[in-house]
Amino acid sequence: MTTTTDDGGSRERPSGAVPILELKGVSKRFGAVQALHEVNFDVRAGEVSALVGDNGAGKSVTIKCIAGIYPIDGGEILWEGKPVAIRGPKDSAALGIEIVYQDLALADNLDVVQNMYLGREEITPFHALDETRMEQRCSETLSSLSVTTIRSVRQTVAGLSGGQRQSIAVAKAVMWNSRLVILDEPTAALGVAQTRQVLDLVKRLAEQGLAVMLVSHNLHDIFEVADRITVLRLGQDVARFNTEETTQREVVEAITAGKLSTVPGQEAEAHA
Ligand SMILES: Nc1ncnc2c1ncn2[C@@H]1O[C@H](COP(=O)(O)OP(=O)(O)O)[C@@H](O)[C@H]1O
Ligand SMILES: [Mg+2]
Repeated sequence: MTTTTDDGGSRERPSGAVPILELKGVSKRFGAVQALHEVNFDVRAGEVSALVGDNGAGKSVTIKCIAGIYPIDGGEILWEGKPVAIRGPKDSAALGIEIVYQDLALADNLDVVQNMYLGREEITPFHALDETRMEQRCSETLSSLSVTTIRSVRQTVAGLSGGQRQSIAVAKAVMWNSRLVILDEPTAALGVAQTRQVLDLVKRLAEQGLAVMLVSHNLHDIFEVADRITVLRLGQDVARFNTEETTQREVVEAITAGKLSTVPGQEAEAHA
């Protein structure tokens, strides 16, 4: 399996294409807390776009705005260049957005197939679940992503490692034809080998033409898989980099000292 990157040299980039998802000046306030202030961010098909920042920077709130869990207060979200109103998880799913949350929404007592089909079971003409077809599709999807460590798709998810669980959640997104996969800190709880598996998988998703948004505060992960990096600090996007043209040091500087356009405390008072 060849998964070492020569950093995108051979990867096809639909450069110049309209981003599949774009946030333009997105703001979100919780009472006195300006969680997001005019955030700009975009993701393109075939690319991994990373959103990085310290704890509390606004990464998870950004995801939840895209998911429609939090309504945005200002700015707009564009899908394939057109403004969209995402009012809840059903709207984001209908667009083709799949979000893999850190503490995954997998059901421990169900097996791999049941998890990948949860809520979308295939019915045979006799109204029985078409188990054979379901198993087949799951196995095919997993092998198309080179996920080889899962011995049986009939094994319950409770017995899987964290990396395998991430892989199942991602494979589910692929099986249901998602266009954009968002991963929130996918390697936070993983060991070295499992992290490797998940990062390889992230690369493969982009290679298959999906857009990937990777949210992390692990710069090592980011530098390994991301094409572009947006840095959030105190709810503002303070820097943007092409991974090939920057260094970890430069990104760390932006995370800790990136230039803010407004000072959060003062801004809150001005609106009071
Ligand atoms: N539901 C909420 N109510 C009030 N404040 C919130 C809520 N969710 C997030 N925040 C605040 O928004 C800011 C950004 O949080 P978050 O997006 O979770 O950060 P992170 O970058 O670590 O994911 C933090 O100051 C956090 O306390
Ligand atoms: Mg978070």
